[in-house]
Amino acid sequence: MYKIIRNILFLFPPEEVHHFSMSALHWACRLGPLRSLLRKMGLPGSAARLQGAGRNERSGGVGVGRESGVSRASGAKGTERELFGLVFRNPVGLGAGFDKNALYLPELDILGFGFVEIGTVTPFPQAGNERPRLFRLPKDRALINRMGFNNDGVKAVAGRLRDWRKANAEKSSLIVGGNIGKNKATPNEDAWKDYEICFRELFDCVDYFVVNVSSPNTPGLRELQEKESLRKILSHLQTLNGQYPRPKPILLKIAPDLGPEQLDDVIDLALEIQLDGLVATNTTISRDTLQATKQSEWECIGAGGLSGSPLKEKSTAFVRHIHEKTGGALPVIASGGIFTGADAREKMAAGASLVQVWTGFIYEGPFIAGKITAELAE
Ligand SMILES: Cc1cc2nc3c(=O)[nH]c(=O)nc-3n(C[C@H](O)[C@H](O)[C@H](O)COP(=O)(O)O)c2cc1C
Repeated sequence: MYKIIRNILFLFPPEEVHHFSMSALHWACRLGPLRSLLRKMGLPGSAARLQGAGRNERSGGVGVGRESGVSRASGAKGTERELFGLVFRNPVGLGAGFDKNALYLPELDILGFGFVEIGTVTPFPQAGNERPRLFRLPKDRALINRMGFNNDGVKAVAGRLRDWRKANAEKSSLIVGGNIGKNKATPNEDAWKDYEICFRELFDCVDYFVVNVSSPNTPGLRELQEKESLRKILSHLQTLNGQYPRPKPILLKIAPDLGPEQLDDVIDLALEIQLDGLVATNTTISRDTLQATKQSEWECIGAGGLSGSPLKEKSTAFVRHIHEKTGGALPVIASGGIFTGADAREKMAAGASLVQVWTGFIYEGPFIAGKITAELAE
């Protein structure tokens, strides 16, 4: 059924379709019977029984401890995961950039995601790059984007999150991560200030943080992955975090284009400053793993981050390396090319504690979280 809808949606420009589809979902969720139907479809089988079951302490606005390490709750068929002191009702999340402005949390909750990472948000609102800036490569089940951190700014997003928390504190077990970045106009030497602003502003309305220094679409951003620049930003955030009575988990999202030495540097630093985990990986600037899309086609699209199937192996290799090098001491959220339960299982076999989808949502449809969760539970 989704294949037919997808074929129609794919006749129109991707970014416009994204906004149209999410608005349609929003209106559908306002109608009681449709909402119940969507909820059922989003959480099939065992996962459905978890809806509302493992509500987090944090979603009541209380905050959590920071115990790291993943454990599997004994609940329905083991779909729950406990990580960084948070209970994820299932291990399938929605990656950053899908709901940048925290506009669709009730809908994504209904679709059965275990967690949603809002953002990337920056201190000030920014428009992002010129359109078109999102492209489909259907023959490779991939996307290329150069959005450029278009977002409403951290104040507006924090306001929306607070409203959502107020309205849903008792109802929802959805975990919300805050993915933070810097404004395009902020020079790299001042980047730490932007991360601080976002961190403070979002502190009481997200469950965990992801520091994004790995998007290819903000000029110079990925240079912040260099060890000393990273140390400055992350140590500063850790110091701030320690001043709160209940610190929040802080993770770092890394690019799949890091060389082996750079990756090891990042892992060493993460261990040294006791980060809670890594998100591996962001999109890639490489086009080497495209198989079916003609070179003239992707050359015509131009710059941007490639996601979906062509990213899968590289991101799995990163997850495996991090897991092996740290002996599992640094939890990893896997992101890159996850479409099915088998893909998610592969990431977990490589050492991931949780997984996130983005491109998979576009190709597999809105019920992807429930489907993967059910397949994992089998
Ligand atoms: C259109 C688009 C926008 C994205 N925006 C962000 C973003 O703002 N911040 C971020 O950390 N990742 C962003 N990402 C990367 C995704 O979160 C994810 O890490 C990446 O796409 C790999 O996963 P996938 O293969 O399942 O798509 C974006 C991806 C896409 C396709």
